[in-house]
Amino acid sequence: MGDNLSDLSNSAIQEINECSSSNDLESIRVKYLGKKGTVTAALKSLSEIDPRDRPAHGKRINEIKTLIQEKLSERKASIQKQEINQNIENKMIDVSLPGRVNFQGHRHPVTKTLLEIEEIFYGAGFVVEDGPEIEDEYHNFTALNIPHNHPARAMHDTFYFNSEYLLRTHTSPIQIRSMEKDGVPIRVIAPGKVYRRDSDITHTPMFHQIEGLVIDKGINFSHLKGILHQFINTFFEENTDVRFRPSYFPFTEPSAEVDILSKDNKWLEILGCGMVHPKVLENLGINTEIYSGYAFGMGVERLAMLKYGIKDIRSFYENDLNFLNQF
Ligand code: DAH
Repeated sequence: MGDNLSDLSNSAIQEINECSSSNDLESIRVKYLGKKGTVTAALKSLSEIDPRDRPAHGKRINEIKTLIQEKLSERKASIQKQEINQNIENKMIDVSLPGRVNFQGHRHPVTKTLLEIEEIFYGAGFVVEDGPEIEDEYHNFTALNIPHNHPARAMHDTFYFNSEYLLRTHTSPIQIRSMEKDGVPIRVIAPGKVYRRDSDITHTPMFHQIEGLVIDKGINFSHLKGILHQFINTFFEENTDVRFRPSYFPFTEPSAEVDILSKDNKWLEILGCGMVHPKVLENLGINTEIYSGYAFGMGVERLAMLKYGIKDIRSFYENDLNFLNQF
């Protein structure tokens, strides 16, 4: 019996010493000291022993139990220390690695262009105005000197809700709304979405325009030319050849379209402009003997296409990340 106990004790200590992980150590504890463990079993079988030997035998088993417990906790402490050191070594943070960068979005090229244009005019003392995308036919047409049955109404390919309301076909109605609100003198630009029933390589049913309006005493065509030259050179970041070509808009007189000379020597139209038609001002009760002014309107997508060399206007609205990530 005594030998058996010595063997038990020796093999437990040997296993503990050879053990190298917390998990294995726990298995050893269960094997010897658990409910069904060998040491526990030895204690249970005391009743089978000669009563005279029992006390000494019991004492011996308890000593072995205590010894195994001590060895287990010693070993546990040293394994834990080892495991911590290993962790520090293996999972060490390499501070020389490049950081993980979060994917960062950016503004849509149309928004970007719009803000660039706003910024330029803001620097020239213009105030930014806003207007509704669902417009009434008075502000979109009539007040701009485009009466019913005027051919210019057909030119716009309008989306109508009913005979009175429509999706604005241009940002020019904001001219009217701004003057109704603030009167004159006035110096505003008005960016926004506009809608026309049109879709091909150079047209989308929704696109963006920026409208400009200046009304004051003594404003003439040279002021208009000056501001547009300044705008075009700033926007395209170089001295650009510009041509004012006579044109027709019902709300301006005289009217012009402005072309710029492209890299491949072609004149490209970029905006419409003119001196605000006296009828427009009279509709608003403004004295045209005292006040005059100019207006202009430009397509934002068109300007972005020219600046960045984009061929198809529809690429702005296809949500193709390969396209968008270039900006
Ligand atoms: N509203 C015109 C269009 O959409 C553009 C335009 C031309 C605006 C001349 C103006 C202007 O303010 O003076 O085609």
